[in-house]
Amino acid sequence: MKNTVLSFREAKQENKKLTMLTAYDYSTARLMDEAGINALLVGDSLGMVVLGYKDTLQVTMDDILHHTKAVARGAQNALVVSDMPFMSYQTSVYDAVCNAGRLVKEGHANAVKLEGGSVVCPQIRAIVEASIPVMAHIGLTPQSINALGGFKVQGKGVEDARRLIEEAKAVEEAGAFAVVLECIPARLAEIISKSISIPTIGIGAGNGCDGQVLVYQDMLGMFSDFTPKFVRHFSDIGTQMKKAFELYISEVEKGAFPAPEHCFDIADSIIEKLY
Ligand code: KIV
Ligand code: NA
Repeated sequence: MKNTVLSFREAKQENKKLTMLTAYDYSTARLMDEAGINALLVGDSLGMVVLGYKDTLQVTMDDILHHTKAVARGAQNALVVSDMPFMSYQTSVYDAVCNAGRLVKEGHANAVKLEGGSVVCPQIRAIVEASIPVMAHIGLTPQSINALGGFKVQGKGVEDARRLIEEAKAVEEAGAFAVVLECIPARLAEIISKSISIPTIGIGAGNGCDGQVLVYQDMLGMFSDFTPKFVRHFSDIGTQMKKAFELYISEVEKGAFPAPEHCFDIADSIIEKLY
């Protein structure tokens, strides 16, 4: 069944958990879509897990567009959500609408995601008015890494916790159809999830959220630069990949690959003429 902003709203009303994973390419998007994922996020985490940057700040509109096109081609039923890169929406409401428009028009995203609470509500409102669904993102917002002073749990004090509850209400009021809660205490995420009517999608925010998201290289054990506490390795694909690469290298070096069944034949009469 095709996932839409409507089915997201219904899922929360029916107490059905929503699932999202990041995707950056066609073949992975297809596998996730066939598995039945609700949403594919072309996250700006691509800067770290695909492009090898130390944070997400260098990711450009062209980077996200390039990967959104690939993911959209692989998505049949999943909702394709594209991250708005750092400085593609903070600068003005006008920039935000233009850049969100490009992600839908050129990239074929179904929705966009941007980081921040009340500060970006004018942007959320304007993008939604342009008929582009917006997923908000509060708590640990990696594009603010320099302002936050590191990748740290957010909302631990009473002031911060109250502020996050208010931010969640603000983004809902501005028209967001869902909100990512990143790296906040589980019991706070539960309170937030109960105080708004749009689904909360948690990452490092516990089981009380209406849905979950993970970076796929993290959940498959393919990214070892660092592993946050909230990551579970659902499979150790990284080790399996490395083993397969090593086997390929040794089989080629031994002359065991390719074998006759991998080769194309030619008639003896042709070969004779070649000598
Ligand atoms: O870029 C990303 O992958 C994200 C998720 C972690 C929510 O924003
Ligand atoms: Na992101």
